[in-house]
Amino acid sequence: MRKPVMAGNWKMNKTRDEALEFIYAVSDKLPSSDKLDSIICAPAIILRDLVKRKGSALKIGAQNVHYAESGAFTGEISPAMLSTTGVDYVILGHSERRAYYNETDETVNLKIKACLNNELKPIVCCGESLEERENGSTHAVLERQITLAFEEIKPTDLANIIIAYEPIWAIGTGKVASAEMADEACGFIRSLIRKQYGAVYAEEIRILYGGSVSTKSVSELMAQPNIDGGLVGGASLKADSFIELCEKAI
Ligand code: PGA
Repeated sequence: MRKPVMAGNWKMNKTRDEALEFIYAVSDKLPSSDKLDSIICAPAIILRDLVKRKGSALKIGAQNVHYAESGAFTGEISPAMLSTTGVDYVILGHSERRAYYNETDETVNLKIKACLNNELKPIVCCGESLEERENGSTHAVLERQITLAFEEIKPTDLANIIIAYEPIWAIGTGKVASAEMADEACGFIRSLIRKQYGAVYAEEIRILYGGSVSTKSVSELMAQPNIDGGLVGGASLKADSFIELCEKAI
């Protein structure tokens, strides 16, 4: 049995005060961590504050990290630096970072390795654009993204990695993929892991769906056999809504 995950992706939202208000509002209302991994991925500047005050049920994640140990990368944060904040998770390869900040399958792979070396757990995003879905290349896109992301990643590392299937056309658009469509894609991703690592590892890895997940759509998505949780943007910003997502995820 795979433990369900509910991960909020705040993107570039919330000041420190707003973030702390949220944390205090959810702290004693989330399901216990043996039933669910509930995670908030927040802007880097407030991570340390959130880790300090998060309570026992919540885990904190970042939204990006550099792959190098140090160097001339103005504005970037290294995995070792991120590690000192006490976060558990890092979102890698989100489509917004691929689209606006030149993230590639190759840098995602380097970042996965750098995270694992620094005891950070990657949440690896993949997913097709509307054009790719419509011209029938969804599987080819997912196969390329997953194969390159997992190059030279050891089977024993898979327990520390989460995959998030996020069709780009569903992100922030209110157009959630149908539960069947999301499950089919997550099932395909699982089959890629099976091909590379075998059936045992494929059964163990957790695969999330992301893209306009709401308190209304979450239950049907979670009921699908290949979907182990959600990566949620907009609906994770309000405390009440995040609590409801977490309750419905178990
Ligand atoms: P959304 O964002 O839930 O607002 O569509 C999801 C994501 O980008 O991770």
